[in-house]
Parts: sequence; C-alpha cells; structure tokens
Amino acid sequence: MSKSMRLMITLLVTLALVASATLAMARPIVIKFSHVVAENTPKGQMANKFKELVDERLAGKVEVEVFPNSQLFGDNKVLEAMLLGDVQLAAPSLSKFNKYTKSLQIFDLPFLFKDMAAVEKFQQGEVGQKMLMSMKKKGLIGLGYLHNGMKQLSASSALRIPADAKHKKFRIMSSDVLAAQFEAIDAMPLKKPFSEVFTLLQTKAIDGQENTWSNIYSKKFYEVQPYITESNHGVLDYLVITSAEFWMDLPEDIKVEVKKALDEAITFGNSVSAQKAINDRQKIIDSKRSKIVELTDAERQQWVEAMKPVWKQFEGEIGKEYIDAAIQSN
Ligand code: SIN
Repeated sequence: MSKSMRLMITLLVTLALVASATLAMARPIVIKFSHVVAENTPKGQMANKFKELVDERLAGKVEVEVFPNSQLFGDNKVLEAMLLGDVQLAAPSLSKFNKYTKSLQIFDLPFLFKDMAAVEKFQQGEVGQKMLMSMKKKGLIGLGYLHNGMKQLSASSALRIPADAKHKKFRIMSSDVLAAQFEAIDAMPLKKPFSEVFTLLQTKAIDGQENTWSNIYSKKFYEVQPYITESNHGVLDYLVITSAEFWMDLPEDIKVEVKKALDEAITFGNSVSAQKAINDRQKIIDSKRSKIVELTDAERQQWVEAMKPVWKQFEGEIGKEYIDAAIQSN
C-alpha cells in the first residue's frame, strides 16, 4: 500500500471516530418514567409535569418518556427493570418495596397516620429522609415522596364493622403488613398487580380492595363495587425512585436541573392529590354507582382495635423508634 493511501485511510478512520464521538455527545440522555396509574391521577399528572419541565429546561440534553397504565412495566417488575437499566424513573407505592427494604413497611401500618399532614411531616422529618436511602446498597435511590392519599375500603357489600369483612377476599398490594391487616379481621388478602384489580372485581373473583379516591375513580373500581367505606385506615403514597448507577453517572449540572424539575413536579403532584381526594370522591357520589358508607366513631373504633395489633407484629422489622417518630408527627 502506498504511503499516500495509508495516510488517506488513517484520515478517514480518524474522521469516522470524531463523527461518532460527536454524535454520541449530542444524543440526549433518555429518562424512561414508568408507572401503573392513569394520567388523570396525582402520579400521572406529576410524571407529565416532570416531562414538561425537563423538555422546557433541558431540551436536546435530556428527553423524558412517560409510560402510564403499566404500559411498560407493572410494579412487580419495574424495580428489577430499573436495576438492569431498562427504565430510569418510577414511583411505586410505598407498599411495593418489601423485597428491598423493611423500613418502608411503616407506611402500611393501619391507623398510624391521622391525616396527610401527619404523613407529610413524617416524610420530611429526619426518619422519613433517612428512609429515602434505605435501598442504596441494593442499587436504588429514593429521590422524594409523592402523595396520593388516604385509603378507603371498597366492597361488594356494605362494611360497617370488621365482622362484615370476615371471610371476604380483598386484593392487596405486595405488602406483608397489608396481608396481616386483613388477616387481623379474618378476611382473605390476595396480592395482585394493580392492572388486574378491575377485572378481579368485575368478575367477582374477589369481594373488595383498598385504595385512594383517585385510584378508585380513575380505574372505575366504583362502577363494579357498590359500597365504599370511608375508613381512611391507611395511606397510599409513593417513592420516586431511580437506580444509583444511573443517578451517579449523570453529569452534575444535569443532575441538579433534573432534581429541581422533579421537586417542582412533586409539589405540583401533591397539590393534585389534595384536590383529587375531594373531587374524585364527589364524582363517585354523583355517579350513584357506589354508596359511601360513613362510619360512626364507635364503628371506626372497632376497625382500629381489630387492626392495630399489626403494629406489634412488625415492630421488630420496622423499628420501634421509627413507629414512635410517626406517632409524634400526628
Ligand atoms: C398506584 O397508585 O400506583 C397503584 C396502587 C395499587 O397498586 O393499588
């Protein structure tokens, strides 16, 4: 090969390398945000707001793709997918981290938090903030909490006192605390993905489920559940989560902007959750498809007494000092 030919080949190879490096640099970082709920929910709205803010502020640098309604992954698969790098953001319910940490089980203890203000206080306090990092060793980082709201009990018959739930089948999220909560009232809990709940209720394979007003409304559970007991017996909130590897690898300036957009989207999502707890409840009443069962103080007390022993059962796994801190936030 002649000298000029060799020079030409070297030049072409160099040019190709420079071109591909430039292309790689110019390609935006893709953040896939997978979730299981509808878009007209606190989490759906929060995810869309996050995308909107990132599109505005980091155009060309970061691209957010939102996948609602379990389109990409259900909550039972999303964390594994995140560790494999197939998804970068998710916000599963706090009840769905059992495999990775025991401390978050605190949020499932029945009748622990008086209202959402108490939940917010606990999450923003020392213990709540420490819990964000409880799965770091397993490769997952909590970036913040997002509210949905207090849970209600829907069923095929009216549930006024715990005895009304005896031997009935309830769908629950994948949480041992929630299983214990239903076992405490002699009911039968079944761990099932969110995407299957409507069909299970419609076909009467199960008798009931627990969820927030916005999930009951947006997934039309109220159309196939003639009674909803306004129990406010527990909380359904989310942990916005990412993989430690993805987060650590983000360039610092991008990370700061992404976190800022996320915090703002969470604040927005929290305001949506507060409105939806009122508005979606009202829409269900207006639909006349489902009757709301309001409990007297004495009836509610029966649920508290039946379910509260669950605290002791999980005190060892969660930590008494954490439970005490939660009580303090009330
Ligand atoms: C969710 O709100 O993300 C789903 C809750 C559930 O599985 O019931």
